[in-house]
Amino acid sequence: MKSPPSSSPSSSLLLRKTRLISPFLFTLLAFILFIAVILYSEVFSQCHTKLSRIREREEGCDVFKGRWVWEKGGPLYEEYECPYIQPQLTCQQHGRPDKDYLHWRWQPHACSLPSFNATLVLESLRGKRMLFVGDSLNRGQFVSMVCLLQRIIPENAKSMETFGSLTVFTAKDYNAKIEYYWAPFLLESNADDAVIHRITDRIVRKGSINKHGKNWKGADIIVFNTYLWWMTGMPFKILQKGSFKDDVKDMIEVSTEDAYRMAMKSMLRWVKRNMDPKKNREHRLGR
Ligand SMILES: *[C@@H]1O[C@H](CO)[C@@H](O)[C@H](O)[C@H]1NC(C)=O
Repeated sequence: MKSPPSSSPSSSLLLRKTRLISPFLFTLLAFILFIAVILYSEVFSQCHTKLSRIREREEGCDVFKGRWVWEKGGPLYEEYECPYIQPQLTCQQHGRPDKDYLHWRWQPHACSLPSFNATLVLESLRGKRMLFVGDSLNRGQFVSMVCLLQRIIPENAKSMETFGSLTVFTAKDYNAKIEYYWAPFLLESNADDAVIHRITDRIVRKGSINKHGKNWKGADIIVFNTYLWWMTGMPFKILQKGSFKDDVKDMIEVSTEDAYRMAMKSMLRWVKRNMDPKKNREHRLGR
């Protein structure tokens, strides 16, 4: 990847479609809708204080306005050091010769982000559950987070387990869990099986956020993403009631935008009902 990635995470989604072939997550990051609900409690106040300090120092710094800069300095982890990357993402092991793509760093226009500190993040996550929900893009974010943190955790103090749609990384000494939940549409769909599905026949069920959402309850931090699977280029099928397996389905067809809007609204309602506004606050990145 020689050309620099996007200069702004909020540019048009459609422009980004042309970059799909680009194999690394940094470019992908630019065109998702990304909502994080971040714990706003004492444990997190350390991070929060740091962020506040950045804001105070750099009045009016919008960390989402910036650009990618290429740096000679090493990446924060190497692929071979991290045992948790799935084979489909181990570019180097599969012979990718260049390494330039590892050196991009996000640089806000008006301030600089503090460098990543794994100890600080693990301390902040002590006794907490951090959950990534969505499609393979968020799986990538989850794996990256685990890779960034796992290197400072001894072998016998960490584990990775999968229970159906849920994958759980545990940092035992911190009683901290970082999790990933596969739900490419957030809502229930006939593509919830990552292997058995057809792109041309995607159906989501109306009002079904709790189908997956019941597994998200109790998480202290949730990072949602859903985007790519909606982009079939066809009207979207919404199941009104009954089963995906019914021969005659009670379905309506709507535009992708309307279907996506429905999912966003469902997700926001879920957040309102299930997250504590006293403890959590909501951030929306990108669009
Ligand atoms: C990382 O954070 C820990 C815990 O707050 C702190 O003790 C340490 O000095 C930090 N390391 C760096 C390099 O800033």
